[in-house]
Amino acid sequence: MTDTPGPVLHSDPRGAIFITPDLYQDMEHWHEVAAEIRRDSPVLRVEAEGWPAFWAITSHADVFEVSRRSDVFWNTERSAPGPDVTYDVLEAMGFALPRTLVHIHGQEHQKYRQVTNDWFKPAAVSRLQPAIDAIADEYADRLVELGGSCDLAQDLAVPFTLRVIMTIFGVPEQDEALMLRLTQGIFGAADPEYLGDFTDPLAFLSDTLGTFTEYFGELTADRRAHPADDLATVLANGQVDGGPLGETELLWYYIIVATAGHDTTSFAFGGGMEQLLRNPDQLRALQADPSLAQNAAEEMIRWTSPVRSFFRWTQEDTEVGGQAIAKGDVVLTSYPSANRDETVFVDPMRFDITRPDADKTLAFGLGMHYCLGAQVARREVRTLLSKVLERIDTMELAGEPEYQRAHFVSGVKHLPVTYTLR
Ligand code: HEM
Repeated sequence: MTDTPGPVLHSDPRGAIFITPDLYQDMEHWHEVAAEIRRDSPVLRVEAEGWPAFWAITSHADVFEVSRRSDVFWNTERSAPGPDVTYDVLEAMGFALPRTLVHIHGQEHQKYRQVTNDWFKPAAVSRLQPAIDAIADEYADRLVELGGSCDLAQDLAVPFTLRVIMTIFGVPEQDEALMLRLTQGIFGAADPEYLGDFTDPLAFLSDTLGTFTEYFGELTADRRAHPADDLATVLANGQVDGGPLGETELLWYYIIVATAGHDTTSFAFGGGMEQLLRNPDQLRALQADPSLAQNAAEEMIRWTSPVRSFFRWTQEDTEVGGQAIAKGDVVLTSYPSANRDETVFVDPMRFDITRPDADKTLAFGLGMHYCLGAQVARREVRTLLSKVLERIDTMELAGEPEYQRAHFVSGVKHLPVTYTLR
């Protein structure tokens, strides 16, 4: 962990876990604090300097309820939890505030979601399986090339999930390094490892958005002129209200799919593998019975919950879990906390690939904004898992895993392992 102080709190200090990037680097401690909050203040008031005041929603039932009641709890331009300064600076620099699917609401959201919905339906996603298999084979083969030790997160999970999402888009392999820099520039902006030579995170974010604009502008023009069988073609030629998507909306659509579909899934895989290596009996059970991979992937996603939270903005006076919430109040849905709720999951702090209740996970959210890529993510995690297990005989941790320092999307970014091949 770094020594960087988090935001200063003027309320129960435990509320710091939801917004302090450092605290997501030690998830054991994080979950101890979250369990305490669930027990005594499941809807916790958090007032932190530089942040909008909010209610942290920590129980499964309440996160479920807030997500379901999208008529009362709206997604807005500030749905991604962050300090005010991020938005103020974006506006001051002349960038439009984000308008992706997670930032819009109601009928407008439905119209935009409709543009890609068919692409992400289970039947369409099942068509992607041969491509996912081939990419997973390619990356699992790296285990052979790497000769017995590697960083399972950076050497396999990160490039694999990036290649899958870029294949869906239709972005050529040679542009992947750029895409990696861009997605990490947005989600990893708080993590010094991803800042490179840039000492000013806001300048870095601005640079990232500028490059995204240019790259996807060119991609759009190309797919309008030469339609192909990929998601970029669907977006470039998509219609809303009888016309093409606006330039800003289109840019943000690319950004949400590129960013939401990459780090999230690699964190789920990396963090899940960490648990398998810490529970070698489960790793062996999975090797002995590959049919367990599907449930194992579900448990890896529940356990890691890489999307840490979203903000919703309350439209009328209401109540959640017995707590009065006023019109205009902000609520934060804590997915990692909901996914360890002891009233829903048996022995929630135990990682268990045979857990019968793993499918009660709220890691993908719920309701109108339910993760568009959930089926893709599930397939990716279980496919890469199966392909890795097909190749290894033994695998062990070769050092302490390192967690990304970020409060919005985070998880294991370095997973050093040693292994023997079959
Ligand atoms: C394990 C991996 C993933 C996790 C944990 C995850 C989690 C989430 C969560 C929590 C939400 C918000 C749900 C809500 O507000 O109720 C979301 C939305 C979204 N996700 Fe994912 N996601 C993952 C992978 C993906 C992938 C692979 C893609 C794309 C291929 C994707 C695309 C999206 C999009 C576009 C939205 C916005 C949907 C909307 O607002 O209508 N996600 N995701």
